[in-house]
Amino acid sequence: MIYHEVLVVGGGLAGLRAAIEAHDAGCEVAVLSRVHPVRSHSVAAQGGVNAALGNHPDASDDNPERHAFDTVKGSDYLADQDAVEILTGEAPGRIYEMEHWGCPFSRTSDGKIAQRPFGGAGYPRCCYAADKTGHALLHTMFEQTLKRGLRIYEEWQVVSLAVADGRCHGVIALDMRTGKLEAVGAGAVVFGTGGAGRIYARSTNNIINTGSGMAIAYMAGVPLKDMEFIQFHPTSLFGNNVLMTEGARGEGGYLRNALGERFMEKYAPKAMELGPRDIVARAIQTEINEGRGFPGGYVQLDLTHLGAEKILERLPAIRDIAINFTGVDPIKEPIPIQPGQHYFMGGIDTDADGVTEVAGFYAAGECSCVSVHGANRLGGNSLLETIVFGRRAGLHASTYVKGEGGARAKAGSEKVLAKVMADTEKRVIWVLEADGPEDPAGLRDELRESMFRNVGLFREEKGMLEGLDKVRELRGRYPRIGIRNRGRRYNLDWARNLELEGMILVAEAIAAGALARKESRGSHFRTDYKERDDQNFLKHTIARLTDDGPRLEYRPVTITRWEPQARTY
Ligand code: FUM
Repeated sequence: MIYHEVLVVGGGLAGLRAAIEAHDAGCEVAVLSRVHPVRSHSVAAQGGVNAALGNHPDASDDNPERHAFDTVKGSDYLADQDAVEILTGEAPGRIYEMEHWGCPFSRTSDGKIAQRPFGGAGYPRCCYAADKTGHALLHTMFEQTLKRGLRIYEEWQVVSLAVADGRCHGVIALDMRTGKLEAVGAGAVVFGTGGAGRIYARSTNNIINTGSGMAIAYMAGVPLKDMEFIQFHPTSLFGNNVLMTEGARGEGGYLRNALGERFMEKYAPKAMELGPRDIVARAIQTEINEGRGFPGGYVQLDLTHLGAEKILERLPAIRDIAINFTGVDPIKEPIPIQPGQHYFMGGIDTDADGVTEVAGFYAAGECSCVSVHGANRLGGNSLLETIVFGRRAGLHASTYVKGEGGARAKAGSEKVLAKVMADTEKRVIWVLEADGPEDPAGLRDELRESMFRNVGLFREEKGMLEGLDKVRELRGRYPRIGIRNRGRRYNLDWARNLELEGMILVAEAIAAGALARKESRGSHFRTDYKERDDQNFLKHTIARLTDDGPRLEYRPVTITRWEPQARTY
């Protein structure tokens, strides 16, 4: 049996940061990733990462407390405020660490890290590397793992978490090169497996973002938290939903409807285009729904007044993407955009050290829910979350391994892994041999379209019930799938269809949580309950998987300094 003291699953920013920390704390560490680490979805982050550095002339009195307040207000008061204070308090240190590791941040004229305005923020505090910030951060982080000589299992897909008696013993993973299932024992396992955007149609996410980590944890008995809160990014490219960074509006871009109006005046008169994402995305969709969009359903992101020099320096990738995918050069013409699913505020239930209910099992980054984003995440806080909470999870995991999760625990793991392997083998081989009449690609499409339509930007009871019915219908049809490719090596048909079951379960948790939350808060907007209801719903949703689907429980929100107020921008 393969064994590592700390096994990190996921080669994106949260996973790699956890791995580095556990290694530096003296543990033997390996990273297992379904893709080469620099192809992880963190690489696609564009606009920046928040920290109250005060480098912008308009932000000399910014500080972590102001950053925390903006984050809490942005979350529509659902974020746990103690965790938010950790996020914003540790932010400057983590950014300087990335700078010292060589991250090529853009610079001010006096050589400091440049910062730009971002949505829902009172100060320009978003540090950036042009519009390729995730790329710059991930490559820097990857270099650090290479420097430390960490073992990396590339193109290995985890299919089960081995849990017994409340303790995690490792994972079962599919080595995509050979098609062999392997048991990987570990003193501690840290998931940094990313989000589940591909459960939705019109997503800005990579095709690997299927929520597999969330689903595997959920199936192993770990609860998911606040799954009903799904972020729609206001500006994704019309046609394919590639991200058009909020940094474009941070640099001064305008949103215009088909009448040429800067319509944000009606929805966020002070913040305008730099309102928080939930408000801006709904504003765009309202313009489209009410007939003030362009034919097909889009509005325009207009950068033409910024001038070629600024666009080429600060937004070069946006320009390339717009030209390559739509033939529009943003220097000369506005970009056609529409809201696209972008981020999961919810995820595996953890505390601020990545600790879950299962001893030795940790999660960090988008797959987790600490909760620092509450009902709506501010742009620039997700990259920050990966480096703050990835580090904390790696540190806690290393402490656990040196204590109760260490060598003595290793002895019992082999038996547990053998049992989980036997169960997993049945499921995995069943999918490889499945020859039923249902086309799994069709099932996936039906799931995505239904989630987008019924549990999307605007929600109401009838649609959500339809969404839930569809999910349950798909759950019933999944056992009748048939797959075409039966080879074992690099069989993506097999791997994708294996995780389809988990996508359906995660979708069910989203729809059930949304249906039960009879209020509007942040990204969860119900046309039948338009107001926030602190009396009844200032609480986190916890979903546990049972044979009958998710069982919902609730947990109070931690309020330290900021009582909920009306949220205007
Ligand atoms: O718009 C963006 O660049 C996305 C940033 C984020 O999701 O934090």
